[in-house]
Formats: sequence, C-alpha cells, structure tokens
Amino acid sequence: MAILTSRPRGTNDFLPGETARWQYLERTLLQTAELYGFKEIRTPTFEHTELFQRGVGDTTDVVSKEMYTFLDKGDRSITLRPEGTAGLARAAIENGLLGEALPLKLSYAIDCFRYEKSQKGRFRQFHQFGVECYGADLPVTDAEIISLAFDCLKTLGLSGLTLAINSIGCPTCRANYYKALKDCFESRRGELCETCQTRLDKNPMRILDCKSPVCQKIAAEAPQVTDYLCPDCRAHFEELQRLLTSAGIPYTIDPGIVRGLDYYTRTVFEISVPDFPALCGGGRYGGLVKELGGPDVEGIGFAMGLERLLMVMKEQNCPVPEEQSCDLYIASMGKAASEQAFRMVSALRAEGFSAQCDLVGRSVKAQMKYANKLGAKYSMVLGDNELSEGRAALKAMATGTQQEMTIGEGFAEAFSDVMMNGYVLAAADAAAEFGSQK
Ligand code: HAM
Repeated sequence: MAILTSRPRGTNDFLPGETARWQYLERTLLQTAELYGFKEIRTPTFEHTELFQRGVGDTTDVVSKEMYTFLDKGDRSITLRPEGTAGLARAAIENGLLGEALPLKLSYAIDCFRYEKSQKGRFRQFHQFGVECYGADLPVTDAEIISLAFDCLKTLGLSGLTLAINSIGCPTCRANYYKALKDCFESRRGELCETCQTRLDKNPMRILDCKSPVCQKIAAEAPQVTDYLCPDCRAHFEELQRLLTSAGIPYTIDPGIVRGLDYYTRTVFEISVPDFPALCGGGRYGGLVKELGGPDVEGIGFAMGLERLLMVMKEQNCPVPEEQSCDLYIASMGKAASEQAFRMVSALRAEGFSAQCDLVGRSVKAQMKYANKLGAKYSMVLGDNELSEGRAALKAMATGTQQEMTIGEGFAEAFSDVMMNGYVLAAADAAAEFGSQK
C-alpha cells in the first residue's frame, strides 16, 4: 500500500463540495440547540487517559479496546477523545462553570476517535454533535433533551425516526440488578468471551453490550434492569413517559438499551432510522461530575454521529443548500487589465460576492475554460480596449447573453443590481429595445 498517498483506515477526506454539507449540518444543529439555550463549547481533542478510564469506565469496550492512547514526550498517557461527555464535564469543573447559574447547557461539534472495525457508518475518526445539561434533575429535563434531539433530526428533514427509552436505575437499584446478573451469568462463565469473564466480576452490565455473538446470545436471557428499579427511579421513568406522551413524542421502552458507557444512571435513550440503529444516543449521568472531582451535580445529554447523519440525509434526499459558487470571473489580457481585474474582484468581495481573477497568466481562452469549470455565474474579459473605454461586457455564462457595464467606481453596486434583478438594460440598449417595439 502506498502509505504516503493513502489515508489511515477508518478516516475520511471531506472534499470541497462535501464540506458545504458539513458546515450546514453543524450550523443547523448548533442553532437548533441554541433555541433551547445551549451554548457551544470547544475542548481539547486529547485529554489525560485517566479521564476516560474514570469517566467512561475501564471495563467498557470504548476504553478497554478502542482508545487511541499514547505516551507524550513527557511520558504522560494521553488519549484522543473517544467521545465528548467526559471532556466536557472536566472542562465545566476546571473552569468553574458549575458554580454559576444552573442548569448549565453546553453544545459541541467535535471529532472523536475509536479504534473500531471499520464498516458502514463506523469510522475510527468520526464526528459528533452533542449537548450536555448539568444541574437539572427533574424528568422534564430528560423530556427536553429528547425533544431537542428530535428537533435536530427533524430540522434536517429526516423522517422515519424512532425513539427507544429505558431506565438503568441508580447505584442503589443497580446493586440488586448486578447481583441478579451475576447469578444468571455465573453458570455460563466459561462460554463468555475473555473480556466478559472479567466483566462478570467487575461490571456485569457491560456483558449486555458485548459485540461477541456468543455473549449476545447469553445476554438475551439476562434479567431486565427495569424489574429492579427503586421507587425513585421508577417514578422518574414514569414521569418521563407521561411528559413524552403529552408532548406527542412517540417512544417504545426497550429494556435492552444499556448503552456502552459506564456513566449513565436512570434515563437512557436511542433514536434510530430503519438503516441506522442508534443514530443518536444519550442519557442521564448522576455520578460522573462528582467522580471526576466536581460538585454533586447531575448531567444529561446526547450525541449523534455526523457521518451517519449525512449518510441518512443522502438516502432520504433531505435538502441541503448548495455551496456558494463563483459569482463573477474576470479574465484579463495584459498587465494593466489584470491589475484592474484584481481591484474589481477585491471590491466585489467586499460586497459579499464570490469573485475570481487570473492568478497564473493564462490565455483568455484558458481563463474562460477555467471560469466554466468553476461554474461561474457571470464572466467578463478585460483588455486594452475595455480599459480605455471604461466599459466591458458582462456575460451570463448559462445563456451567453451579454450586457455592457461601466467598470470603474460603482461597478460592485451595479453588479449587485444585476445579481438581484437579472440584467438591467443599459440606456442605449433600452432605447434600441424601445425603438424595436414601436
Ligand atoms: P455513543 O452512543 O457512544 O454515545 O455515540 C454517539 C453517536 O456517535 C452514535 O449514536 C453514533 O451515531 C456515533 N458514533 C459512535 N461511534 C461511531 C463510529 N465509530 N463511527 C461513526 N459514528 C459513531 C456517546 O458518545 C455519548 N457521549 C453520548 C452522550 C452525550 N451521552 C450523554 N451525553
């Protein structure tokens, strides 16, 4: 394999043309979250490895198998973030954000790294949009977060969305549930994969999201967490269901959803479309902030994979705005004309138009070919004649129609009129037109 010209497995190049979609996606999602009061935060791409071991949990697949971890030159163990929640909690604590008015609402659009088997919609570097809300414990927060996730996906034009919710309880109910799980799995310990044999002692719930088919088969017979909820967790879950019903958000309860990360308590949820289970996943986390050394504040949030979103949007033909193409290409012949072209494109850009001129000294024919390739809406050719007359022909590339325009001061404004109203007939042409109608 040509190492120098092949990207690492599981990564993507997003080429011009595609990046407009990404910008649209990130802008739309962040703006939708802003309607709910979420403000964007940016945190480092890498963090201390311990953050994920403690925050996400060292028996999870993500931490035990999928992290990009390395020693930096100072012998510190560093990890490329596999997700956003732990880093955001760290940043909120470190910057004292949790001592300010709560609830604190943060949004993010980030890249994440997981050493996973690459397959459809599963990459080693991928992107997430997500939100985290701290310091709001009532079930109405859970309903608001789920409603935001839905709004985000609907604003992008997606259809066929299904929401599955579950409650995985708090440490109190978890203790009883773990005991039941251990009792169930112990007799089949030998059949479990090596990782799950360790999980059985340390964190039996993680066996439920093991990707090994044998473990999955055994896990299917495990007791369900919803049967072990304490009265408070049960009440929280029932209130959430009432709120979702009254908000008209359809859902199913799926006791199989335990999520693959350790920090969750109580509500967990996933939103899917037929081709993509778990396009978006999230839930409440009661102990994470405290575990990381912050105040005893609960958090709740979700994240959605942007690569997966774009794939589904393509499949469902969701509208995406076109990227801005070149409004005007000014071709030129000779030094004086190319200087004039340079001045004109600067003035046009100052008015917000996308304008280009020749940068390589090509022939006018080659410049026009390039303008065509750029998809320029209009073009203009400047030579000695145009400079001495102070006028040049503006050509609409799609139709070939031309209009004479003054090229000095005020050109950008006149071009703006053309862009808004189509051609404005020059006075002489208008007179001729008038004459021909008589
Ligand atoms: P997660 O379910 O691990 O949750 O990831 C969230 C989303 O990221 C997934 O639903 C999926 O769309 C996308 N995703 C995950 N792994 C990959 C991959 N290898 N390639 C492409 N896309 C992927 C979290 O990360 C939690 N931090 C979500 C959260 C926020 N919970 C509370 N707050």
